[in-house]
Amino acid sequence: MFICGNWKAACKTATFDNVKALRRDQFISTDAVITVPSIYIPLARMNFPDFIKIGAQDISRYTSGPYTGEVTGEMLNEYGISYVLVGHSERRIMLNESNTDVAEKISRCIEFQLAPIICIGETQACRESHGYLDYLWKQLKESVGNHTDIKADVAYEPVWAIGSGQNASNCQIAEVTRNVKTWMAKLGLHGRILYGGSVNESNIDDIIALDSVDGVLVGNAAITDEFGRIAKRMRCGS
Ligand code: PGA
Repeated sequence: MFICGNWKAACKTATFDNVKALRRDQFISTDAVITVPSIYIPLARMNFPDFIKIGAQDISRYTSGPYTGEVTGEMLNEYGISYVLVGHSERRIMLNESNTDVAEKISRCIEFQLAPIICIGETQACRESHGYLDYLWKQLKESVGNHTDIKADVAYEPVWAIGSGQNASNCQIAEVTRNVKTWMAKLGLHGRILYGGSVNESNIDDIIALDSVDGVLVGNAAITDEFGRIAKRMRCGS
């Protein structure tokens, strides 16, 4: 089972104190990573225990050069980053990140030996239109671009479930993640399928009971020691 925490821009240096409460025994047989803002990567290297890998929340589309403000794959690689979130809906919506941008970011991940976690998800309006499966397939296919036969995890995160306290139902998660499995095989993606969107210690048991879910992407609940309790439940349930 895979657990990825995403601190987004909701952390500060004091947040690293919360990591001290995470215990090794909670993470036994769980592959665990927390993605931090790039400025905190050196702090994460000093403070994260060895059972928590460090991930990045984004990667530049560019390799290196005159791109003020960008954090490149080479920099992430130098700092021992293992995973990179690409195409998180917050970036797609707020920063207008397109599927083509995401495909370029996957290229940089491959170039610098970083494992991409490709995020996809439909808005509430899209779900209500009933065309959400077509939408998600197109989003994934275009985000993957010309890459094939690559190692990449896919996170299904319905936009309406992120940060809302209202996770998708098991039926909704199962329908999409089963399709994601087929789509990954079609596109030649080798990796795990995650669910994200208001995951917490109360709903984790139900979510990981689904055979099409290999792990979770956790936002709010990853900021505190609830992250450890979620990981522990994943071990018990898996
Ligand atoms: P949430 O965020 O757990 O706070 O809903 C999930 C995410 O955006 O990855």
